[in-house]
Amino acid sequence: MELVSGNIRLRPFRPSDADNLAEMANNKKISRNLRDGFPHPYSREDAVTFIRHCLDMPRDTFFAIEYRGKHVGNISLSPCQDVYRKSAEIGYFIAEPYWNKGIASAAVKMIVQFGFNNLGLMRIHTGVYEYNPASQRVLEKCGFTREGIFKKAIYKEGSLWDEVRFAILNPAIR
Ligand SMILES: CC(C)(COP(=O)(O)OP(=O)(O)OC[C@H]1O[C@@H](n2cnc3c(N)ncnc32)[C@H](O)[C@@H]1OP(=O)(O)O)[C@@H](O)C(=O)NCCC(=O)NCCS
Repeated sequence: MELVSGNIRLRPFRPSDADNLAEMANNKKISRNLRDGFPHPYSREDAVTFIRHCLDMPRDTFFAIEYRGKHVGNISLSPCQDVYRKSAEIGYFIAEPYWNKGIASAAVKMIVQFGFNNLGLMRIHTGVYEYNPASQRVLEKCGFTREGIFKKAIYKEGSLWDEVRFAILNPAIR
């Protein structure tokens, strides 16, 4: 499945993405905003393992973000389980040289529509660390609601931080 809007394309990963992915992802300014499962340093082997995992997924939920034909980031929807199965968590990053060009905002809008229209999701959410205003701004621009703060929920790099929770609902249930 590929999603296209203007200069932005969301497409499945390819094994040949590994070198570029490792180069983009090996950046502390990216990893410090993500779960510890996103390692630092980020090796080519980490990229190969991640791409293999994406290609094994039963549904298209992990996408490479292309900007003008170049792979510049990743975006995903991770569907939840059990009573949360109509929800998914969104995650994304953009390579630092491409920040502040509107790429994340465009990609988030595209994958949210895909999640609602193609995956049957009713709610898409994420938690942003308190020190990440750029991602909070992306979510606000994409129509997410700031639902609340989980005080000191995040333990990252040896300190506790607040998590700011955002969500958007499928318009079908508004
Ligand atoms: C967060 C991230 C995805 C944003 O990607 P991007 O393509 O630069 O996002 P956009 O260009 O669509 O929008 C960025 C917005 O944040 C704003 N912004 C950037 N830095 C900011 C800062 N320090 N304080 C406040 N706003 C900031 C920009 O001005 C822009 O808003 P605007 O359009 O109103 O001017 C990117 O910085 C990144 O990959 N960060 C590391 C990983 C990460 O944080 N992932 C998300 C985890 S929840």
